[in-house]
Amino acid sequence: MPSESILVVDDTPEIRENMAEILSSDGFSVDVARDGEEAIEILAQRHYDVVLTDLSMPRRSGLDVLRVLNEQEEDTVCVVVTGFGTIQAAVEAMRLGAFDFLTKPVKSDELSVVIEKALETRSLRRENKTLRQELRKALGFDRIVGKSPAIQEVFHLVEKVASADSTVLITGESGTGKELIAHAVHDHGKRKDRPFVPVNCAAIPAELLESELFGHEKGAFTHAIRTRIGRFELADKGTIFLDEIGDMPPVLQVKLLRVLQERAFERVGGSKTIHIDIRVIAATNVDLEEAVRQGRFREDLFYRLNVIPIRVPPLRERKADIPLLIEHFLAKFSRGGRTVTVDDAARRSLVAYDWPGNVRELENMMERLVILSNGSVVTREDLPERIRGAGGRSSSGGGVIEIPSLPEEGIPLHEVVNEFEKAIIIQALDRTNWIKNRAAKLLQMNRTTLIEKMKKQQIIKAQETAA
Ligand SMILES: Nc1ncnc2c1ncn2[C@@H]1O[C@H](COP(=O)(O)OP(=O)(O)OP(=O)(O)O)[C@@H](O)[C@H]1O
Ligand SMILES: [Mg+2]
Repeated sequence: MPSESILVVDDTPEIRENMAEILSSDGFSVDVARDGEEAIEILAQRHYDVVLTDLSMPRRSGLDVLRVLNEQEEDTVCVVVTGFGTIQAAVEAMRLGAFDFLTKPVKSDELSVVIEKALETRSLRRENKTLRQELRKALGFDRIVGKSPAIQEVFHLVEKVASADSTVLITGESGTGKELIAHAVHDHGKRKDRPFVPVNCAAIPAELLESELFGHEKGAFTHAIRTRIGRFELADKGTIFLDEIGDMPPVLQVKLLRVLQERAFERVGGSKTIHIDIRVIAATNVDLEEAVRQGRFREDLFYRLNVIPIRVPPLRERKADIPLLIEHFLAKFSRGGRTVTVDDAARRSLVAYDWPGNVRELENMMERLVILSNGSVVTREDLPERIRGAGGRSSSGGGVIEIPSLPEEGIPLHEVVNEFEKAIIIQALDRTNWIKNRAAKLLQMNRTTLIEKMKKQQIIKAQETAA
C-alpha cells in the first residue's frame, strides 16, 4: 500500500522544509508548494490525502487553496497553519471546512497528532462514500437492500417464482422484510400492472374479516346498508397478499381453503358464486407447522399455501447487510444536504448487535440516531446500552438481565427502575413498529397499562419528537 500523501504549503522556506521533514520521517509521501498559487497548480494535477497550508501567503492565500479543495469531488482533508494575528482567518478557514488548525511555531508532536486525526477522518469519509456507491448498486432489486449470500438467494428465488402463478408462502421473523418480498414477487410477475391487494389478517377484528375478504350483500347483517366488494374481488386479475396468515381465525380458514381450491366464493349474505383469477401470496412470522401440530391452523390449508416457501432470514444471519442498511437508512432519514455519518466504533457495535426486531428495529434505531446526532456524526456513546455492549453477549432470549452497578454515593431506586422500564418499553415498541397492541403483548401487560406508562415516562416516537 502506498503511503498517504500530504501537500505542505508555506511561503517561508524554513517552516516549509521543517514540516515536510517531520512528516517524511513519519512515513508520509510529502510534496511542497511555495505559495497558494503553486499549490493550486499542483492540486490540478494530483490529489492528496491531506493538504497542510499556511494562511497568509503572497499571490493566493490558504483560504483560496481551501476553496479550490471544496470545489473538487475529492475528500482531501485540509489543515491550516496560522501565525499570530491571523486567528480570525483560521476561524474563517474552519467555517469553510478546514479540518483543524495549528498555530506557529508548529511543534512536531502536535503536527503528527493532527495529521493522524485528519487521516482518520479522511478514511471515514472515503468509507462512507464507498458504502454509498455499493448501496446504489445493491438497491437494484426493488429497493430491497442486501448483498449477503442469504438475501441474494431470496432475490434469486423471487425472480424464479415471480413469473409462475403459484401460491407463495413467505415466512420469517417480524421485521425481516416479508412485505417487501411480497411486493417484489408481484412486481416481477405477469400481473405487475394489475392490483396488489394486501390484507392484514391480524389487524382486522375477526368479526369484520370475513366481509373484508369476501364482501357482503346489502342487508346481510344489521350494518350492511349497501353491497360491499371484498378484497378478493378487488384483487381479481392481480395478487392478493394475505399478511399474518397465522392469525386467521379457524372459521375463515375453511372459507379460504375453498377459494384457494376453486377460485370461487360468495359474498356474505349472498348466494351468487363469484369466480376470480388471483395469485395468492401469504406471509407469517408464526411457525405454521407448529400451529398445525397444535391444531390452531388447518393442515390442508397449510399445504395449499406452502406451494413455494420463501424463508426470509433474520438480520443476524446476514450481518454483511447491516453496513449497507445503515447507509440506506441514514440517507433516508437525513434532512438537508448533509448526510449523517456513523463512526467506526459505532458501526462495529451496530453490526455486532443481534437485532431481534430485525430490519425494522434497525430502521427505527437509525431514525432516532439521525435526529439525536443533530446532523453530524453518530458515535458509540450515542447508542443505547444494549447495542453499545454488543459483541460478546447475545441479547436475544435467555432472559439475561444486566444489573447496573450501584454507584459509590448511592442512587434512588425508583430512578434506576424507571430508566430500566423506559428502555424496555422503547425496545418493545421499536420491535413492533410502535403498534401498541403488539408491544403490550410482548411485555405481557394490557394495552391501557402500556399507554399509561408511556405517558408517565414521556415516551414518544422519535419522528414525532422531531416534528
Ligand atoms: N432489505 C431491506 N432493505 C430496505 N428496507 C428493508 C429491508 N428489509 C426490511 N426493510 C424495511 O424494514 C421494515 C420492516 O419490513 P417489513 O414490513 O417488510 O417486515 P415484515 O417481515 O413484514 O415484518 P412483520 O412480520 O412485523 O410484518 C419496513 O420499513 C421495510 O421497508
Ligand atoms: Mg409484515
